[in-house]
Amino acid sequence: MKKHFFIFAITLGGIAFLQFGCDSNQAARQPTEQPKKEMTKEEQVVRGKYLVTGGGCGDCHNPKLMSPQGPVPDTTKLLSGHPAAIPIMPIDKNALKPGNWVLFSPDLTMAVGPWGITYSANLTPDTATGLGAWTAEQFIKTMRTGKHLGQEGGRALLPPMPWQNFATFTDEDLKAIFAYLQALPPISNKVPPPASPDDVAKMK
Ligand code: HEC
Repeated sequence: MKKHFFIFAITLGGIAFLQFGCDSNQAARQPTEQPKKEMTKEEQVVRGKYLVTGGGCGDCHNPKLMSPQGPVPDTTKLLSGHPAAIPIMPIDKNALKPGNWVLFSPDLTMAVGPWGITYSANLTPDTATGLGAWTAEQFIKTMRTGKHLGQEGGRALLPPMPWQNFATFTDEDLKAIFAYLQALPPISNKVPPPASPDDVAKMK
């Protein structure tokens, strides 16, 4: 009799344990996500810096200083784009024929290819020469559509700006990137407009 009761007790305990286990599993399967809170400005800037750093924007948009290890970012001018004062070196036009080469300046802020010459934009919040007058919506549109200034019917952004990669960021992340860029020290640097292949052909 005692033995039977013992087995019965163990079985009950087991059932209770299983039941409890199931309940907690079910609880884990319930959608527990709370509606997302909007990030504060400070949180946006921290997230934006993280995305801009990992996203490699500085590879092309940072002016550089040359070191024995190659080009390193000029931290006094972060993300201010192709330095307007740098002279354009002579271009080997044979190298630019489709199927040959694409050329970069040593600081990677200027590229030459079958599309002509492109200069990386000033992303600092300087109003006259950077993104100071841009809105977050305009920035998102630019990154999603690859159109200059995010304008419908605007010219297509040219290589090597890899906007197609950044089009996959969420609105929240693009807003964070924009908030970080707007928090940078503004730097006045008027980047030249792109030169067309015809312009390049006429160059000496
Ligand atoms: C491989 C080089 C490269 C990288 C990496 C790069 N860019 Fe650019 N970016 C360019 C070039 C070149 C232009 C100018 C293109 C043109 O004039 O058509 C440009 C232009 C822009 C513009 C100006 C668009 C306009 O309307 O004229 C913005 C904004 C921009 N980039 C943001 C970014 C951000 C943000 C990142 C990182 C998430 C980034 N870029 C990464 C090369 C790059």
